Amino acid sequence: MTDAAPVLDRATAARPTPKPGILAIAPYVPGKATAEGVEHPLKLSANENILGSSPKAREAFAGAIDQLHMYPEGRSNLLRAAIGETYGLEPERLLFGCGSDEIFQLLNQTFLEPGDNIVQGQYGFGAYAIGARACQAEVRFAPERDYRIDVDEMLKLVDERTRLVFVANPANPTGTWITGSEIRRLHAGLAPSVVLVLDGAYAEFLSDPEFEDGASMVREFENVVMTRTFSKLHGLAGLRVGWAYMPAEMAAAVDRIRLPFNVNIPAQLAAVAALGDTAFQTRSLALVEQWRAWLTQQIGGLGLDVVPSAANFVLVGFPKTPGKTAKEAEAYLARRGLIVRGVGGYGLPDHLRITIGLEEHNRAVVDALSDFLKG
Ligand SMILES: Cc1ncc(COP(=O)(O)O)c(C=O)c1O
Repeated sequence: MTDAAPVLDRATAARPTPKPGILAIAPYVPGKATAEGVEHPLKLSANENILGSSPKAREAFAGAIDQLHMYPEGRSNLLRAAIGETYGLEPERLLFGCGSDEIFQLLNQTFLEPGDNIVQGQYGFGAYAIGARACQAEVRFAPERDYRIDVDEMLKLVDERTRLVFVANPANPTGTWITGSEIRRLHAGLAPSVVLVLDGAYAEFLSDPEFEDGASMVREFENVVMTRTFSKLHGLAGLRVGWAYMPAEMAAAVDRIRLPFNVNIPAQLAAVAALGDTAFQTRSLALVEQWRAWLTQQIGGLGLDVVPSAANFVLVGFPKTPGKTAKEAEAYLARRGLIVRGVGGYGLPDHLRITIGLEEHNRAVVDALSDFLKG
Protein backbone atom coordinates (compact mmCIF):
# COMPACT_ATOMS: atom_id res chain seq x y z
CA MET A 1 0.00 0.00 0.00
CA THR A 2 1.14 3.51 -0.74
CA ASP A 3 -0.47 6.75 0.36
CA ALA A 4 0.46 8.64 -2.83
CA ALA A 5 -2.43 10.55 -4.46
CA PRO A 6 -4.18 8.43 -7.10
CA VAL A 7 -3.28 9.33 -10.66
CA LEU A 8 -6.41 10.75 -12.22
CA ASP A 9 -7.21 9.77 -15.77
CA ARG A 10 -8.44 13.10 -17.11
CA ALA A 11 -9.91 11.51 -20.23
CA THR A 12 -12.28 9.26 -18.29
CA ALA A 13 -12.96 11.49 -15.26
CA ALA A 14 -16.63 12.06 -14.38
CA ARG A 15 -16.31 15.80 -14.92
CA PRO A 16 -13.85 18.21 -16.55
CA THR A 17 -10.67 18.05 -14.51
CA PRO A 18 -8.14 20.88 -14.21
CA LYS A 19 -4.66 19.94 -15.34
CA PRO A 20 -2.28 18.74 -12.61
CA GLY A 21 -1.23 21.43 -10.18
CA ILE A 22 -4.12 23.85 -10.67
CA LEU A 23 -6.05 22.77 -7.59
CA ALA A 24 -2.86 22.89 -5.53
CA ILE A 25 -2.60 26.64 -6.14
CA ALA A 26 -3.63 28.65 -3.08
CA PRO A 27 -5.92 31.44 -4.36
CA TYR A 28 -4.57 34.99 -4.00
CA VAL A 29 -6.12 36.62 -0.92
CA PRO A 30 -6.44 40.39 -1.30
CA GLY A 31 -6.34 42.76 1.67
CA LYS A 32 -9.69 42.85 3.50
CA ALA A 33 -12.00 45.81 2.88
CA THR A 34 -14.62 45.32 5.62
CA ALA A 35 -14.66 45.01 9.40
CA GLU A 36 -17.59 43.33 11.10
CA GLY A 37 -19.84 45.77 12.96
CA VAL A 38 -17.97 48.87 11.71
CA GLU A 39 -19.82 50.95 9.16
CA HIS A 40 -16.99 52.93 7.57
CA PRO A 41 -13.73 51.23 8.43
CA LEU A 42 -10.40 52.57 7.20
CA LYS A 43 -8.69 50.28 4.72
CA LEU A 44 -4.96 50.11 5.36
CA SER A 45 -4.59 46.62 3.96
CA ALA A 46 -3.79 46.95 0.25
CA ASN A 47 -1.05 49.60 -0.07
CA GLU A 48 -3.33 51.90 -2.01
CA ASN A 49 -2.68 55.64 -2.21
CA ILE A 50 -4.36 57.19 0.83
CA LEU A 51 -4.70 60.50 -1.04
CA GLY A 52 -6.88 58.82 -3.68
CA SER A 53 -5.91 59.64 -7.23
CA SER A 54 -4.70 62.69 -9.10
CA PRO A 55 -7.44 65.24 -9.86
CA LYS A 56 -6.13 65.36 -13.42
CA ALA A 57 -6.49 61.58 -13.74
CA ARG A 58 -10.04 61.73 -12.38
CA GLU A 59 -10.91 64.41 -14.93
CA ALA A 60 -9.39 62.38 -17.78
CA PHE A 61 -11.28 59.29 -16.66
CA ALA A 62 -14.57 61.20 -16.62
CA GLY A 63 -13.71 62.66 -20.03
CA ALA A 64 -13.65 59.15 -21.51
CA ILE A 65 -17.42 58.80 -21.11
CA ASP A 66 -18.12 59.19 -24.82
CA GLN A 67 -15.69 56.45 -25.80
CA LEU A 68 -17.15 53.56 -23.84
CA HIS A 69 -18.57 51.87 -26.92
CA MET A 70 -15.21 51.72 -28.66
CA TYR A 71 -12.41 49.20 -28.43
CA PRO A 72 -9.17 50.77 -27.31
CA GLU A 73 -6.40 51.01 -29.87
CA GLY A 74 -4.70 47.64 -29.37
CA ARG A 75 -1.15 48.49 -28.29
CA SER A 76 -1.75 51.23 -25.71
CA ASN A 77 0.06 53.64 -28.03
CA LEU A 78 -1.19 56.72 -26.22
CA LEU A 79 0.26 55.56 -22.94
CA ARG A 80 3.29 54.07 -24.67
CA ALA A 81 4.24 57.48 -26.04
CA ALA A 82 3.69 59.18 -22.67
CA ILE A 83 5.80 56.67 -20.73
CA GLY A 84 8.51 56.73 -23.39
CA GLU A 85 8.73 60.50 -23.17
CA THR A 86 8.46 60.81 -19.38
CA TYR A 87 11.15 58.24 -18.60
CA GLY A 88 13.23 58.49 -21.79
CA LEU A 89 12.51 54.87 -22.81
CA GLU A 90 12.24 53.40 -26.31
CA PRO A 91 8.51 52.83 -26.98
CA GLU A 92 9.06 49.50 -28.77
CA ARG A 93 10.57 48.03 -25.61
CA LEU A 94 7.47 48.74 -23.55
CA LEU A 95 4.63 46.35 -22.75
CA PHE A 96 1.37 47.22 -21.03
CA GLY A 97 -0.81 45.11 -18.81
CA CYS A 98 -3.99 44.97 -16.77
CA GLY A 99 -1.88 45.79 -13.75
CA SER A 100 1.70 44.59 -13.52
CA ASP A 101 0.13 41.32 -12.34
CA GLU A 102 -0.82 40.59 -15.93
CA ILE A 103 2.74 41.18 -17.05
CA PHE A 104 4.05 38.58 -14.58
CA GLN A 105 1.50 36.13 -15.99
CA LEU A 106 2.56 36.88 -19.55
CA LEU A 107 6.25 36.45 -18.74
CA ASN A 108 5.55 33.14 -17.02
CA GLN A 109 3.46 31.94 -19.96
CA THR A 110 6.09 33.01 -22.46
CA PHE A 111 9.04 31.31 -20.80
CA LEU A 112 7.85 28.39 -18.66
CA GLU A 113 7.35 24.81 -19.70
CA PRO A 114 6.18 22.09 -17.29
CA GLY A 115 9.12 21.11 -15.09
CA ASP A 116 10.89 24.48 -15.41
CA ASN A 117 11.25 26.62 -12.30
CA ILE A 118 11.18 30.21 -11.10
CA VAL A 119 13.20 31.51 -8.17
CA GLN A 120 11.98 34.20 -5.79
CA GLY A 121 12.61 35.33 -2.24
CA GLN A 122 11.12 33.51 0.73
CA TYR A 123 8.52 36.28 1.22
CA GLY A 124 8.15 37.10 -2.48
CA PHE A 125 4.96 38.70 -3.81
CA GLY A 126 2.26 36.05 -4.33
CA ALA A 127 1.35 36.75 -7.97
CA TYR A 128 4.61 35.40 -9.42
CA ALA A 129 4.06 31.92 -8.01
CA ILE A 130 0.41 31.62 -9.02
CA GLY A 131 1.23 32.25 -12.69
CA ALA A 132 4.25 29.93 -12.63
CA ARG A 133 2.29 27.08 -11.08
CA ALA A 134 -0.43 27.52 -13.70
CA CYS A 135 2.33 26.74 -16.22
CA GLN A 136 3.17 23.59 -14.23
CA ALA A 137 6.47 25.05 -13.17
CA GLU A 138 8.13 24.71 -9.79
CA VAL A 139 8.41 27.72 -7.48
CA ARG A 140 11.61 27.95 -5.47
CA PHE A 141 11.79 30.20 -2.43
CA ALA A 142 15.22 31.48 -1.40
CA PRO A 143 15.65 32.08 2.36
CA GLU A 144 15.80 35.76 3.26
CA ARG A 145 17.91 37.28 6.00
CA ASP A 146 16.31 40.06 8.10
CA TYR A 147 13.34 39.92 5.70
CA ARG A 148 15.64 40.94 2.85
CA ILE A 149 16.51 39.18 -0.43
CA ASP A 150 19.77 37.25 -0.04
CA VAL A 151 21.50 37.10 -3.42
CA ASP A 152 23.66 34.09 -2.52
CA GLU A 153 20.61 32.10 -1.39
CA MET A 154 18.80 33.01 -4.61
CA LEU A 155 21.75 31.88 -6.74
CA LYS A 156 21.98 28.57 -4.87
CA LEU A 157 18.48 27.68 -6.13
CA VAL A 158 19.12 28.51 -9.77
CA ASP A 159 19.72 25.53 -12.03
CA GLU A 160 19.46 24.61 -15.71
CA ARG A 161 15.63 24.53 -15.48
CA THR A 162 15.38 28.05 -14.05
CA ARG A 163 13.75 30.38 -16.55
CA LEU A 164 12.81 33.40 -14.43
CA VAL A 165 14.07 35.05 -11.25
CA PHE A 166 11.67 37.55 -9.63
CA VAL A 167 12.78 40.33 -7.30
CA ALA A 168 10.41 43.00 -6.01
CA ASN A 169 12.56 45.96 -5.05
CA PRO A 170 11.35 47.37 -2.68
CA ALA A 171 9.60 44.15 -1.71
CA ASN A 172 6.07 43.40 -0.62
CA PRO A 173 5.15 42.42 2.12
CA THR A 174 8.46 43.22 3.80
CA GLY A 175 9.16 46.74 2.45
CA THR A 176 12.90 45.98 2.31
CA TRP A 177 15.21 46.56 -0.68
CA ILE A 178 18.61 45.63 -2.01
CA THR A 179 21.17 47.90 -3.66
CA GLY A 180 21.88 48.18 -7.38
CA SER A 181 25.22 46.46 -6.86
CA GLU A 182 23.49 43.49 -5.18
CA ILE A 183 21.03 43.28 -8.08
CA ARG A 184 23.94 43.33 -10.50
CA ARG A 185 25.70 40.59 -8.53
CA LEU A 186 22.53 38.49 -8.79
CA HIS A 187 22.37 39.16 -12.52
CA ALA A 188 26.05 38.26 -12.98
CA GLY A 189 25.36 34.83 -11.45
CA LEU A 190 22.58 34.01 -13.92
CA ALA A 191 22.98 32.36 -17.30
CA PRO A 192 22.04 34.71 -20.17
CA SER A 193 18.99 32.51 -20.84
CA VAL A 194 17.45 33.29 -17.43
CA VAL A 195 15.13 36.30 -17.24
CA LEU A 196 15.66 38.59 -14.25
CA VAL A 197 12.39 40.42 -13.46
CA LEU A 198 12.81 43.57 -11.36
CA ASP A 199 9.37 44.45 -10.00
CA GLY A 200 9.36 48.16 -9.22
CA ALA A 201 5.78 48.50 -7.96
CA TYR A 202 7.13 50.60 -5.05
CA ALA A 203 10.25 51.99 -6.76
CA GLU A 204 9.06 55.60 -6.61
CA PHE A 205 8.97 55.51 -2.81
CA LEU A 206 12.72 55.00 -2.57
CA SER A 207 15.24 57.71 -3.44
CA ASP A 208 18.47 56.23 -2.05
CA PRO A 209 21.38 56.74 -4.51
CA GLU A 210 22.35 53.07 -4.06
CA PHE A 211 18.99 52.02 -5.50
CA GLU A 212 18.71 51.07 -9.17
CA ASP A 213 15.31 50.60 -10.77
CA GLY A 214 16.74 48.39 -13.52
CA ALA A 215 16.08 50.57 -16.58
CA SER A 216 19.78 50.83 -17.46
CA MET A 217 20.20 47.09 -16.94
CA VAL A 218 17.43 46.49 -19.49
CA ARG A 219 19.52 48.44 -22.00
CA GLU A 220 22.77 46.70 -21.06
CA PHE A 221 21.57 43.10 -21.05
CA GLU A 222 19.19 40.94 -23.04
CA ASN A 223 17.65 39.17 -20.05
CA VAL A 224 16.44 41.92 -17.70
CA VAL A 225 12.84 43.19 -17.35
CA MET A 226 11.69 46.13 -15.24
CA THR A 227 8.00 46.30 -14.30
CA ARG A 228 6.12 49.29 -12.90
CA THR A 229 2.55 50.11 -11.91
CA PHE A 230 0.07 52.97 -11.72
CA SER A 231 -1.54 51.32 -8.66
CA LYS A 232 0.62 52.79 -5.90
CA LEU A 233 2.14 56.27 -6.29
CA HIS A 234 -0.41 57.26 -8.93
CA GLY A 235 -3.38 55.90 -6.98
CA LEU A 236 -5.01 54.12 -9.93
CA ALA A 237 -5.20 50.57 -8.52
CA GLY A 238 -8.85 50.30 -9.55
CA LEU A 239 -8.06 50.96 -13.20
CA ARG A 240 -5.41 48.20 -13.45
CA VAL A 241 -2.52 49.68 -15.40
CA GLY A 242 0.98 48.25 -15.27
CA TRP A 243 3.89 48.35 -17.69
CA ALA A 244 7.23 46.79 -18.36
CA TYR A 245 10.48 47.81 -20.04
CA MET A 246 12.36 44.92 -21.64
CA PRO A 247 14.58 44.03 -24.58
CA ALA A 248 12.75 44.61 -27.88
CA GLU A 249 12.96 40.91 -28.94
CA MET A 250 11.42 39.85 -25.65
CA ALA A 251 8.65 42.47 -25.92
CA ALA A 252 7.85 41.22 -29.42
CA ALA A 253 7.55 37.63 -28.10
CA VAL A 254 5.47 38.42 -25.02
CA ASP A 255 3.21 40.72 -27.03
CA ARG A 256 2.06 37.73 -29.12
CA ILE A 257 0.13 36.22 -26.21
CA ARG A 258 -1.20 39.44 -24.71
CA LEU A 259 -4.96 39.88 -24.93
CA PRO A 260 -5.59 42.35 -27.75
CA PHE A 261 -7.27 45.19 -25.82
CA ASN A 262 -5.89 44.62 -22.35
CA VAL A 263 -5.67 48.25 -21.19
CA ASN A 264 -8.97 50.05 -21.57
CA ILE A 265 -9.48 53.62 -22.83
CA PRO A 266 -10.46 55.35 -19.54
CA ALA A 267 -7.51 53.64 -17.82
CA GLN A 268 -5.05 54.79 -20.47
CA LEU A 269 -6.33 58.36 -20.44
CA ALA A 270 -6.24 58.52 -16.64
CA ALA A 271 -2.74 57.03 -16.55
CA VAL A 272 -1.41 59.57 -19.06
CA ALA A 273 -2.93 62.40 -17.01
CA ALA A 274 -1.52 60.95 -13.76
CA LEU A 275 1.93 60.81 -15.29
CA GLY A 276 1.74 64.53 -15.94
CA ASP A 277 0.46 65.41 -12.47
CA THR A 278 3.78 65.86 -10.71
CA ALA A 279 2.13 67.91 -7.96
CA PHE A 280 0.03 64.91 -6.92
CA GLN A 281 3.06 62.61 -7.10
CA THR A 282 5.09 64.99 -4.94
CA ARG A 283 2.31 65.23 -2.33
CA SER A 284 1.92 61.43 -2.25
CA LEU A 285 5.65 60.89 -1.81
CA ALA A 286 6.02 63.54 0.87
CA LEU A 287 3.18 62.01 2.86
CA VAL A 288 4.71 58.53 2.71
CA GLU A 289 8.19 59.76 3.60
CA GLN A 290 7.01 61.79 6.57
CA TRP A 291 4.65 59.23 8.10
CA ARG A 292 6.70 56.13 7.32
CA ALA A 293 9.47 57.51 9.53
CA TRP A 294 6.98 58.56 12.20
CA LEU A 295 5.15 55.20 12.25
CA THR A 296 8.44 53.30 12.37
CA GLN A 297 9.59 55.33 15.33
CA GLN A 298 6.27 55.34 17.21
CA ILE A 299 5.42 51.67 16.72
CA GLY A 300 9.00 50.76 17.54
CA GLY A 301 8.60 52.85 20.70
CA LEU A 302 5.72 50.59 21.76
CA GLY A 303 8.18 47.69 21.82
CA LEU A 304 7.09 46.11 18.53
CA ASP A 305 9.55 45.24 15.73
CA VAL A 306 9.13 47.43 12.68
CA VAL A 307 10.94 46.20 9.58
CA PRO A 308 12.64 49.24 7.96
CA SER A 309 10.48 50.06 4.94
CA ALA A 310 11.19 51.71 1.61
CA ALA A 311 7.58 51.42 0.42
CA ASN A 312 4.19 52.93 1.34
CA PHE A 313 3.57 50.51 4.19
CA VAL A 314 5.29 49.13 7.26
CA LEU A 315 5.61 45.51 8.38
CA VAL A 316 5.23 45.10 12.13
CA GLY A 317 6.30 42.07 14.15
CA PHE A 318 4.34 40.99 17.25
CA PRO A 319 5.23 38.70 20.15
CA LYS A 320 3.90 35.15 20.30
CA THR A 321 2.56 35.83 23.84
CA PRO A 322 -1.18 35.05 24.04
CA GLY A 323 -3.10 38.30 24.15
CA LYS A 324 -0.37 40.15 22.23
CA THR A 325 -0.20 38.24 18.94
CA ALA A 326 -0.47 39.62 15.40
CA LYS A 327 -3.76 37.80 14.86
CA GLU A 328 -5.28 39.30 18.01
CA ALA A 329 -3.91 42.74 17.12
CA GLU A 330 -5.50 42.46 13.66
CA ALA A 331 -8.88 41.66 15.21
CA TYR A 332 -8.51 44.44 17.81
CA LEU A 333 -7.61 47.03 15.17
CA ALA A 334 -10.57 45.90 13.05
CA ARG A 335 -12.91 46.48 16.02
CA ARG A 336 -11.50 50.02 16.15
CA GLY A 337 -12.28 50.40 12.43
CA LEU A 338 -8.70 49.94 11.21
CA ILE A 339 -8.23 47.21 8.63
CA VAL A 340 -4.63 46.05 8.29
CA ARG A 341 -3.17 43.06 6.47
CA GLY A 342 -2.42 39.73 8.10
CA VAL A 343 0.49 38.16 6.23
CA GLY A 344 0.37 34.57 7.49
CA GLY A 345 -0.11 33.51 3.86
CA TYR A 346 3.41 34.83 3.19
CA GLY A 347 4.87 32.74 6.01
CA LEU A 348 4.79 35.72 8.38
CA PRO A 349 2.12 34.73 10.95
CA ASP A 350 3.60 37.04 13.61
CA HIS A 351 3.48 40.17 11.44
CA LEU A 352 0.93 42.68 10.19
CA ARG A 353 1.37 44.95 7.20
CA ILE A 354 -0.01 48.46 7.59
CA THR A 355 -0.43 50.94 4.72
CA ILE A 356 0.71 54.44 5.56
CA GLY A 357 -2.30 56.70 6.00
CA LEU A 358 -3.08 60.36 6.59
CA GLU A 359 -1.87 61.92 9.84
CA GLU A 360 -5.10 61.14 11.71
CA HIS A 361 -5.07 57.54 10.47
CA ASN A 362 -1.49 56.97 11.53
CA ARG A 363 -2.14 58.47 14.96
CA ALA A 364 -5.23 56.25 15.30
CA VAL A 365 -3.13 53.17 14.46
CA VAL A 366 -0.50 54.02 17.06
CA ASP A 367 -3.12 54.81 19.73
CA ALA A 368 -4.94 51.54 19.00
CA LEU A 369 -1.74 49.50 19.10
CA SER A 370 -0.74 51.16 22.36
CA ASP A 371 -4.13 50.33 23.93
CA PHE A 372 -3.95 46.78 22.56
CA LEU A 373 -0.55 46.17 24.14
CA LYS A 374 -1.74 47.56 27.49
CA GLY A 375 -4.40 44.84 27.30
C1 LIG B 1 5.43 43.84 -5.22
C2 LIG B 1 4.20 44.07 -6.03
N1 LIG B 1 4.27 43.91 -7.34
C3 LIG B 1 3.19 44.08 -8.12
C4 LIG B 1 1.98 44.42 -7.59
C5 LIG B 1 0.79 44.45 -8.49
O1 LIG B 1 0.51 45.67 -8.94
P1 LIG B 1 -0.61 45.90 -10.05
O2 LIG B 1 -1.70 46.59 -9.35
O3 LIG B 1 0.10 46.72 -11.06
O4 LIG B 1 -1.04 44.58 -10.62
C6 LIG B 1 1.84 44.62 -6.22
C7 LIG B 1 0.54 44.96 -5.65
O5 LIG B 1 0.31 45.01 -4.49
C8 LIG B 1 2.99 44.42 -5.42
O6 LIG B 1 2.91 44.57 -4.11
